[in-house]
Amino acid sequence: MSDHDQVKMTKMNYANDRPKAKNPLKVEDLTFRDGHQSLFATRGRTEDMIPVAEMMDDVGFWAMEVWGGATFDTMHRFLNEDPWERIRTLKRYIKKTPFSMLLRGQNLVGYRNYADDVAEIFVERAAENGMDIFRTFDALNDYRNFETVVPVIKKCGKHFQGCICYTMTEPRMGGDVYNLDYYVNKAKALEAMGADSICIKDMAGLVAPYDAYEIIKALKKSVKPPIHLHSHFTSGMSSMTHLKAVEAGVDIIDTCMSPYAYRTSHAAIEPLVMTLLGTNRDTGFDIKHLAGINEILEKEILPKYRHLLNDTKVSIIDINVLLHQTPGGMLSNLVNQLREMDALDRIDEVYAELPRVRKDLGQVPLVTPTSQIVGIQTVNNVLFDEGKERYKMITDQVKDLCYGLYGKTATQINPDVQKKALKGYSRGEKPITCRPAEVLEPELEKAKEDVKGLAVDIDDEIIYALYPITGKKFLKWKYGKEEPPPEVLPRTLEDAEKEREIVKKALADELVERKKDAPSKGDTIRTFNVFVDEDYFEVGVEEQGGSPVISYVQPMQAPVPTVSAQQAVPSAPPPSASAESAPVAKSEPASAPPSGDVDGTPMSAPMPGMIISVEKKVGDSVEEGEAVIVLEAMKMENALGAPASGKILAVHVESGDSVAKGEVLCIIG
Ligand code: CO
Repeated sequence: MSDHDQVKMTKMNYANDRPKAKNPLKVEDLTFRDGHQSLFATRGRTEDMIPVAEMMDDVGFWAMEVWGGATFDTMHRFLNEDPWERIRTLKRYIKKTPFSMLLRGQNLVGYRNYADDVAEIFVERAAENGMDIFRTFDALNDYRNFETVVPVIKKCGKHFQGCICYTMTEPRMGGDVYNLDYYVNKAKALEAMGADSICIKDMAGLVAPYDAYEIIKALKKSVKPPIHLHSHFTSGMSSMTHLKAVEAGVDIIDTCMSPYAYRTSHAAIEPLVMTLLGTNRDTGFDIKHLAGINEILEKEILPKYRHLLNDTKVSIIDINVLLHQTPGGMLSNLVNQLREMDALDRIDEVYAELPRVRKDLGQVPLVTPTSQIVGIQTVNNVLFDEGKERYKMITDQVKDLCYGLYGKTATQINPDVQKKALKGYSRGEKPITCRPAEVLEPELEKAKEDVKGLAVDIDDEIIYALYPITGKKFLKWKYGKEEPPPEVLPRTLEDAEKEREIVKKALADELVERKKDAPSKGDTIRTFNVFVDEDYFEVGVEEQGGSPVISYVQPMQAPVPTVSAQQAVPSAPPPSASAESAPVAKSEPASAPPSGDVDGTPMSAPMPGMIISVEKKVGDSVEEGEAVIVLEAMKMENALGAPASGKILAVHVESGDSVAKGEVLCIIG
């Protein structure tokens, strides 16, 4: 800090009665959104936020991020919670601190651009339900995708925070595309749109400390709105980046409460408070008060979520991010997807293919949804391309991107890939150059019509408009028209304790016979995180002759003997480890015969996922390669082509079904 203003540390008081700093650093807390999205698969329940809500309100945060991003999706899909209700409930406990949400521009809280009428009503309802700050970003940094939502944010009298997604193609900031000029120009564009603040959104933890210093200095010089830094910890740089950003004059920084901090989340608030204590950027926060919140989170809340921690390594940082300039969440999604497809051994090919696909697709920033679009296409290329033919299975989202439906890419899309992707594309083979939502027909009235008699108010209708399949399912649970499945029920502290006991028993001698001659690991092995007291094990479980067996237990902290047994052990369901994970597939054996008496060519699911639509019915004729079924896997839609020409003899699935890899979907003969 150039103008150090240290108060004598001997007289320093940790509590918040110390003298106010000249220019206190403002802090936004992300515990209730990005924190649990990054570490606990966005599974945080409202009831687990309430015990600390009032204490959080007393900290003095500039804002609390409590909504948006993946919360809307996860809540209705996996938690049987009404996303709108969360804002209203938290508002009853948090009365002083403004609420912030992550808005994906025209993608809202979904994974595609929605029509203008849906975008307008969504923002209006979010504001009405209690949202104050709209942190708005576009995955391509194409601000034409802000043109619909920003006037509504302003009309509602709310704060428009414009984001610049931070990304790079080189190991450090620079190069032809994402250099300092790029960021300064983007900031100027946001200021011109009326941004109340400007956020550098570093979703991958890529901003190196000295690059942060340079950008923030430049932005403070070039634009008036306050500058906000959102930098994930993933690579391990963000604490250093925060300090350099503070020195460069950043106005607001994002942190989490320490139990929700680090790893792929954000640096914790507590060390930052201490770092700045007594300086001219002192936050003024009471560290003892923060400790009180932590104690409740650690003891009463986190035991319920610990099993979700995707934590197969001892290291809490991911140096792959430094090596590949790729978001950690995206990398863990790729690993999960490969694991589900029994192809984890091909991860190095995926790393090599990733920069090629990204370049082909116009060097897009890697953030939801472009990180998934690039990631899934990369996996598809590695798994399904044959010989010289590339892009054999192109996802519908890549086709949309090539058409221009997400906006303008930073560099030109590879014309060959674009041509192949748009061959037979439903909207046309010639890409558009206008603002993407201009080609979208209004969607709201049709959505309202679809859920007539089920939806009670506009908020219900929006849930359906954003997520037709899972949204409708949720509305049926909400209004008692369908029984919610047991897996959406909350997990209690007792459940967590019970599972630990079961595993403990299983590991004891009377239940598990330890075998010296362990069988070799097969390729259907699945990995579980198991916690026994303070010990943490990685357990490989493999189906053998119908009953699950533990085929290895790897101690991750304390050394224990390797256990292997032919004994069935009850175990917790596998964690859906990633924030963007696909619905859990039915656990039917992949090779189960469909219905016995139909001969013909079976068409099976190349990957686990959910059926979006069945384009053909029994009796229809199809050509080889013609789209028969649309399967959603890892949020990407894949049109599955017929394996042979002929007639559809049987269809075994319908829209909304979850399917396992290899499950027969229909028969063609
Ligand atoms: Co984030």
